[in-house]
Amino acid sequence: MKPGDIWLKKVAAYYDSKKKDLNWRLAADGIIHHHNGLIFDKTSFLRKMKTAGTAAGEALIHRSETELSGFGFKFLDCPRKRARLLDAGCGRGGSSLLLAERYPLLRITGVTLSAYQAAAARAAARARGLDARIEFRRASMLSLPVPENIFDRAWACESTEHLPSLPAFFGEMARVCVPGARLVVIAGVRNPGHPGEKRFTRLANQVYFLKLHTEKEYLDAGASRGWELTCKKDLTRPAANYWNMRAMLQKGSGTEFFAAPAFTGGAFLYHLYAYDLVK
Ligand SMILES: C[S@@+](CC[C@H](N)C(=O)[O-])C[C@H]1O[C@@H](n2cnc3c(N)ncnc32)[C@H](O)[C@@H]1O
Repeated sequence: MKPGDIWLKKVAAYYDSKKKDLNWRLAADGIIHHHNGLIFDKTSFLRKMKTAGTAAGEALIHRSETELSGFGFKFLDCPRKRARLLDAGCGRGGSSLLLAERYPLLRITGVTLSAYQAAAARAAARARGLDARIEFRRASMLSLPVPENIFDRAWACESTEHLPSLPAFFGEMARVCVPGARLVVIAGVRNPGHPGEKRFTRLANQVYFLKLHTEKEYLDAGASRGWELTCKKDLTRPAANYWNMRAMLQKGSGTEFFAAPAFTGGAFLYHLYAYDLVK
């Protein structure tokens, strides 16, 4: 067993144990997200939340999470012709399912460390009639069981925060992607030097089994493995709004108490990075 394997097992066990959780409860439409939402217009969202009952409030929060997916997909620049996409850290398949519905010729491989998540994602794809174009596998995105040069697009939404090594991630993405491929990473990023950064990072790492990275690490590691940054979006403000609104739910996940102030105060940043592969 390699030293990093123990960590991967811990992350896998964490997601294997998360079944009837908040993410599952919010997903009345069968699309389970494991990521932040985006709320751009806080005033109007707040007005709706105040008058919404429990179910309607949860639906609003879920919709803001789906909004993040749609926002991020634009940066994938997916072709309408046949192409292959890797969903690196696919959770219970939310992004893959939405992408497959949006792009009928896209073929998708989703990988997660969790056997339970892979099975749940497969069942969701079957239920939506998408299983011919999406395969979900239990595998590590740091050592994928696939040949080199096969993916045209790669998507990593709130999964790289778990990784012990970003250079290893960008290196593996460079191996499995074709030259010119587009990679979109969406991630919570710790903000070094911020007075609350150390405390919030310790908490988040502990509760979610993370190894939160800095922006410099995302930029340096990408560049060192041939990934040229073509676009960056700072989504910290709409993510902070999301956490503050989520804190209004009657029953949240219990992590709102630190995530809301961490994003609102700037100890955590929420960024989208789009890279193109030069090799
Ligand atoms: C917060 S969830 C995000 C899931 C999904 N991307 C979404 O946005 O709903 C993190 C996911 O990353 C996966 N993950 C973490 N480390 C991984 C690794 N080394 N290889 C594959 N998946 C990994 C976990 O198994 C989990 O599915």
